[in-house]
Amino acid sequence: MMEVPSFTLTRQMANIGPELLETMETVLNTGQFILGSFVKEFEEKIARFTGTPYAVGVGNGSDALYLALRSLHIGPGDEVLTTPFTFFATAGSILRTGAKPVFTDIEVDTFNMDPEQVRTRITPRTRAVLPVHLFGLMADVERIRRNSNLFVIEDAAQAIGAEARGKVAGNTGDLAAFSFFPTKNLGALGDGGMVVTHSEELVQLLRELRAHGSRKKYYHEVLGINSRLDGLQAAVLSVKLVYLPTWTAKRQYIAQRYQEGLNALSVDDVALPVVPLGFTHVFHQYTIRAARRDELQAYLKSHGIGSTVYYPLSLHLQPVLRDLGYKAGDFPVSEKAQAEVLSLPMFPELTEQEIDYVIETIAQFYGRKAG
Ligand SMILES: Cc1ncc(COP(=O)(O)O)c(C=O)c1O
Repeated sequence: MMEVPSFTLTRQMANIGPELLETMETVLNTGQFILGSFVKEFEEKIARFTGTPYAVGVGNGSDALYLALRSLHIGPGDEVLTTPFTFFATAGSILRTGAKPVFTDIEVDTFNMDPEQVRTRITPRTRAVLPVHLFGLMADVERIRRNSNLFVIEDAAQAIGAEARGKVAGNTGDLAAFSFFPTKNLGALGDGGMVVTHSEELVQLLRELRAHGSRKKYYHEVLGINSRLDGLQAAVLSVKLVYLPTWTAKRQYIAQRYQEGLNALSVDDVALPVVPLGFTHVFHQYTIRAARRDELQAYLKSHGIGSTVYYPLSLHLQPVLRDLGYKAGDFPVSEKAQAEVLSLPMFPELTEQEIDYVIETIAQFYGRKAG
């Protein structure tokens, strides 16, 4: 039986480990461990990559979201619109500011915030919209903007390099947050994050907020936090950024192979990822919907294939958010997704045999023959 992990970094390390070690040695020799030249260099690279003038390296993606919100002076009494179908950090970062997350349901086929519902949730307290580019497909920020004139903060944690109508993730919002958590398409060897923005005024405040609200050392004007990218991670990420386009192309190729193989099975109760016209998906995850999801996942597991449910419980139903007053049935599309989604193995080093094996095993489960 073949073993196919849902995700692994060991193959990437086998390929570029020696190059990373060499880079890390350079950092060790300079002693620039927190912020410093490696971070500055990487910030400039991300700014160029996303086509935004400013980038601020922070400790992780969750802090990137929190600091983006804080830079807009969002806090107690404010509301921020977001999606219930995402990783907890999205809503958690809103709550950390003292503001209230207000959810809007998602679209059936993209898993992203439904732009048409945004308008219905706006109140006089709404300050910003925080769409998530889930699984590597950008939310439709252009349509979200048509439905509101609020600040937009992109949660681009899963979507580095994705595009919508010619604009790259990070470039459609007033601010955007990236995560370099190791499993992300561009992952560090630990935690890391970045905020990008077009605004010179915001970038100044962001730099203060990540360093305890101080512009001049030991003088504190606003209440910030300690959340800075470190030199080792920045140097490693700079090396990895060079490989990112190739890795993304590999992910897209694997997605295409899954798409062709699974489409050919014509199973009615399975839906494959949809990429709207004009959008480029970077397939952080390849997520299908299956009515018999749990059975399928167990079957894959018994055949050595890893798969993951992102996410089993929508945020409006999370116990810690109970005070927001939501209940089951409030966001039916998100709740249906949590019962049906399954992310198949996806990482650039998957082999042809492994892709075939995943498709064949799914075919077997449904009593079909893979082409
Ligand atoms: C959609 C989304 N938002 C935010 C985050 C938070 O990033 P981090 O883990 O770097 O804090 C993540 C990843 O973990 C994520 O997937």
